[in-house]
Amino acid sequence: MARAKIALIGSGQIGGTLALLAGLKELGDIVMTDIIEGVAKGKALDLAQAAAVEGYDARLSGAGTDGYAAIAGADVCIVTAGVPRKPGMSRDDLLGINLKVMEQVGAAIKQHAPNAFVICITNPLDAMVWALRKFAGLPASKIVGMAGVLDSARFTCFLAEAAGVSIEDVRALTLGGHGDDMVPLVRYSTIGGVPLPDCVKLGFFSQEQLDAMIKRTRSGGGEIVALLGTGSAFYAPAASAIAMAESYLRDKKRMLPCAAHLDGEYGIKDTYVGVSAIIGAGGIEKVVELALDENEKAMFEKSVASVQSLIEACKKISPALA
Ligand code: LMR
Repeated sequence: MARAKIALIGSGQIGGTLALLAGLKELGDIVMTDIIEGVAKGKALDLAQAAAVEGYDARLSGAGTDGYAAIAGADVCIVTAGVPRKPGMSRDDLLGINLKVMEQVGAAIKQHAPNAFVICITNPLDAMVWALRKFAGLPASKIVGMAGVLDSARFTCFLAEAAGVSIEDVRALTLGGHGDDMVPLVRYSTIGGVPLPDCVKLGFFSQEQLDAMIKRTRSGGGEIVALLGTGSAFYAPAASAIAMAESYLRDKKRMLPCAAHLDGEYGIKDTYVGVSAIIGAGGIEKVVELALDENEKAMFEKSVASVQSLIEACKKISPALA
């Protein structure tokens, strides 16, 4: 069987971590690209040398700044290109600048890797995936946004810590856009199979503590941006994207929360927003529509409305998207 080719479009902090994780998991051969001269080549060389110690079998190469041709024939493209926010900024503040980057990246994918499964990490996430799909001319099944796995991972981490149980036994789920309106779903989140409302009754934590964890999950990216001071999170975002890439390349059919294209599900048309979806060899093989109660529905709709206003802003900036 041919080795898979994984193209990393952007080789900053997330890109480097993506390459390391893809190497350690032996997902395929990795091509790194970046607009800053030397970065992709330097990181690829460093990681190729790390393979000698860790013993992973992956060929790593870095392209020069004219590097988009290097993604040719990729099976998976993971896009981190664009600008991260700084303390005090919202993800939405990046829309204008990162939309221009998505236009270039989309054209490159269209030209060189039209059959790839594309995972987008660039913010503001849901709107950028929506725009990238249009620029790249991809079918909805072949492009996804990373955020739901990340948001759910943050919620999982806080719950495990508060309950004092192994993170292995916590399953948390968030839906909605990757913004402050995201929807942590307590009824669908469990500790050892017990839904969170029952965990409160069992005394794992109080309702007030649970509410505080929901709030912290919603602003989880901003917490790290404020702590780092110079950029945004990279380990957990990279791990989240690799989970999606692995599910695609190994046809694992994992059901993961991710920004997927809605075409009628939840009554929503032509929008990318965080939902549960099954990822296998066919890409996004199914969007799973969960039954939401009135309160969850209202939160989800609010989150969708925020994403849709950003999509409208994209259309105004770039008439090609209208
Ligand atoms: C995150 O949630 O870590 C990313 O979306 C980066 C950010 O700006 O918060």
